[in-house]
Amino acid sequence: MAFIPEHLVEEVRQASEIVDVVSEYVTLKKRGQNYFGLCPFHAEKTGSFSVHPDKQIFHCFGCGAGGNVFTFIMKETGVSFPEAVRILAKRAGIAIPEPDELDGGSQEREALFYACELAADFFVQRLWSPEGEKARAYLEQREFREKDIRDFGLGYAPAEWSALHDYALSKGMKADVLQKAGLLNKRDSGGFYDRFRDRLMFPIYNLSGKVIAFGGRKLNGDDSVPKYVNSPETDIYHKSNVLYGLFQARDHIRDAKVAVFVEGYTDVMRLVSEGFRNTVATSGTALTELQARLIRRYTDRVVMLYDSDTAGAAATMRGADVLVEQGVDVRVGELEEGEDPDSFLRKYGADALQQRLAYALPLLDYKTRSLPHLRGKEAYAEKLHSLIATLSRIQDGVERQEKIHFYAEKMKIDEEMLWDEVRRLRKLQRSRRAGEQRRRDAGATSIMLPAGKSSYADKSRVVEEELVRIMIQNHETVAFIRSFMQVTDFYHDSYRMIASLLYELDENNVRLEPEDLIHYFADQEAGEFVSKVVLHEPRFEGITQDDYRRAADCLAKLQRLMLETRIDELREQIRDREKSGGDSSELATELYELTMQRKQIKAENFIVE
Ligand code: GTP
Ligand code: MN
Repeated sequence: MAFIPEHLVEEVRQASEIVDVVSEYVTLKKRGQNYFGLCPFHAEKTGSFSVHPDKQIFHCFGCGAGGNVFTFIMKETGVSFPEAVRILAKRAGIAIPEPDELDGGSQEREALFYACELAADFFVQRLWSPEGEKARAYLEQREFREKDIRDFGLGYAPAEWSALHDYALSKGMKADVLQKAGLLNKRDSGGFYDRFRDRLMFPIYNLSGKVIAFGGRKLNGDDSVPKYVNSPETDIYHKSNVLYGLFQARDHIRDAKVAVFVEGYTDVMRLVSEGFRNTVATSGTALTELQARLIRRYTDRVVMLYDSDTAGAAATMRGADVLVEQGVDVRVGELEEGEDPDSFLRKYGADALQQRLAYALPLLDYKTRSLPHLRGKEAYAEKLHSLIATLSRIQDGVERQEKIHFYAEKMKIDEEMLWDEVRRLRKLQRSRRAGEQRRRDAGATSIMLPAGKSSYADKSRVVEEELVRIMIQNHETVAFIRSFMQVTDFYHDSYRMIASLLYELDENNVRLEPEDLIHYFADQEAGEFVSKVVLHEPRFEGITQDDYRRAADCLAKLQRLMLETRIDELREQIRDREKSGGDSSELATELYELTMQRKQIKAENFIVE
């Protein structure tokens, strides 16, 4: 994990006087001990924004924003914690080692990074050697410029079974490492061969700019081989969490406050080359929730510019709702029949594309456009469902209400019907999520939540908080906690949200820096809790037995709390039943069983008070 060592963070903190730093962004006036100005985080005319030099914090009475010098930079420039530290370090002239120098973590992952880097170099070298003639001719015919080809690190994998294999081994690499990096395949009969042969190679970078995977395009029209061969999932490459081109595009996305989503590698290269540098590709697969959360760190606006074939339209529809669910304002840009962004640009030029982006339709307008003409036809119901699907994914209640009202009116659809359908879908989505979680956690010993008991709510809060804290600090504990507790077992909304993300990341084998977690929460309480833990509490690296013990303690406490709450509940119910002369034997049996369970737990001395 690329932690910046605490002593360096501290050094930067000390060197960054908050009044000086904030003054570079906000005009401050001194009043008494403190400084005041207009809050940069919300629109205001009176200065409710204050900086307190004695505590080295800022606070806005208007919008509630607050924090230290790092939080200020994070909020102001939209960067993650480590980036904020770097920005301030640079300002103070303090040297911070690059992430890879800090990456003392897993040697195995390092070896995979190294293998990919070596392969990328090899492919580049082959492209520009006589052997790469064919690939270069192909690129030239498609009118890609040498500068773009070099900027994107394109390469050529020779038409041989062991070109990379032999080269890498001659450099001292081990074949099994290359295989784990997805570069070699294993033969059934033993031995290895190159995964990528006779292909144009697109390296895929992570957000630190390291190559983690490749996409390899065929160079001929041979229909018997797939157009693209891509790297498989590896310990350093998780498709679901990658957007092609994001490493190069992210600053431009932040500046432009909007991202352009295309389907193909070649589309990204073409658009970037023509000045649309805020472009990323989803690489032909359905957009995932993680990708949506990822882009949400940089912008809340996306224009989808997918191929104008039916597959492209279908992919747009599927992906769009995933983005909407993460609070992204989605627009859809349209291209002429049969064009993709690359071919469109070549044909019509950059100004034409600029227009298409500017006139991109809001997703809901795009979806409802043909609706009026379809009334009475079969396709009408389908389009209507698609509209309802999007409406139901708008997370903000006010916005959802407005949109439902607006489109009901505009499309002359019965508003009550829309409401009913949206409610029904939302309920389905919730139960589907819970169901998915249950399936994932099959085998986990789930503990039934007692219904609506405020004593449980009060007492469980600190314990759930501690569990979540442990998971944030040491992600190795997530799998352990997950095996005992389902997402739905978390009683408190914010902790449930955090747990849900951590579980999901764990399931997808995605590792995030704790600092990066902060950006995944639209929910304020959850986000603030995560930042509190990440920014202000001590960190632990690697696995410590202690974390497991702390987790086990919490799980035991929760289990006992649940038992006790349920026991109290049962006692009450039995009393009521008996008063009214009803039969309480079933309840009594349950009570007896639970009491025995509690005894057993105590006997096992499971609980550490
Ligand atoms: P060109 O057609 O050469 O411009 O390439 P493209 O990148 O635009 O390809 P296309 O529009 O066909 O597909 C979009 C994306 O889907 C590609 O960039 C790949 O990431 C992915 N893709 C396309 N074909 C395949 C395939 O056969 N196998 C796999 N695994 N992925 C593919
Ligand atoms: Mn394409």
